[in-house]
Amino acid sequence: MRTVATVAELRDQLDVARAGGLSIGLVPTMGALHEGHLSLIDRSVAENGFTVVTVFVNPTQFRPGEDLDAYPRKLAEDTALAAERGADLLFAPPVEEVYPDGFATSVSVGGITETLCGAPERRGHQHFDGVTTVVAKLFNMAGADRAYFGQKDAQQVAVIRRMAHDLNFRVQIVACPTVREADGLALSSRNAYLTPEERQRAGALSRALHSVAGALTEGETDAARLCELAHSELSPVDEVEYFEIVDPGTLEPLTTVGGPALAVVAARVGATRLIDNLALQPSTAAVSAPDTTNPTPQGAVI
Ligand code: PAJ
Repeated sequence: MRTVATVAELRDQLDVARAGGLSIGLVPTMGALHEGHLSLIDRSVAENGFTVVTVFVNPTQFRPGEDLDAYPRKLAEDTALAAERGADLLFAPPVEEVYPDGFATSVSVGGITETLCGAPERRGHQHFDGVTTVVAKLFNMAGADRAYFGQKDAQQVAVIRRMAHDLNFRVQIVACPTVREADGLALSSRNAYLTPEERQRAGALSRALHSVAGALTEGETDAARLCELAHSELSPVDEVEYFEIVDPGTLEPLTTVGGPALAVVAARVGATRLIDNLALQPSTAAVSAPDTTNPTPQGAVI
């Protein structure tokens, strides 16, 4: 596996792969790779002739005062892990390569960026503007056939699908199931911030999601009552930013769960902000993340 730091080198490598008839899979990350990221690489390697992993801690998606400086940076380990899992190329550009002097463009998706994590009292849509701007750039740099994202960041996938549809990107967006620790905690680079005691308490997020799925299976379809149940399970965390049951397509809150739904949670444990979600189905067991191996209609959000 080669590592490159410039767009020109990235394109040279990908041109060679394409000329050899290989399909290209793109796995965008901010590094500090864990099994969640690696599951996306595995999927891309299984579905494409050539996989490029990007490692870039994107400053524009962090708010002032957020953890940009503290964010773990582990390029040597990331390189070894990506190579081990069969990636063909690692693109790890410096900030100036992505945002050279004079950079003045932003890609901003409306609507679904303004709820949940993007609500004005939370991170605001500026966070998602940072994500869509860098992801649009990566799509244009790589010209990949498929791009892989984690369902762990459900709103992020929905926003990226919207952008890809609205801006006619050709790339197919593939959402992959959330990888979890044994107690259910979703893997995240930010879990490294948790003290052992906080790590224990962080298990409450997935327990809350599963208790809601369980109550739904037993016939409780009232969203307010399901959210109340979740809040009681979330008592170990320090602050619940939100727990909502939303339409998986629009991310609008539901009052009754009559079909596929998504339970979404954001909470702080100590100083660490954690998010998680679970796909729900009334009167059946909780379903795992939707299978996106089948091409989804462009722009449809899961
Ligand atoms: P990052 O947080 O590094 O995540 C990179 C990708 O890994 C995202 O698509 C995320 O959803 C996925 N991922 C993280 N934890 C996961 C888990 N436990 N199971 C499955 N997938 C998981 O998300 C970003 O970076 C950035 O916003 C990025 C898209 C790279 C743009 O800067």
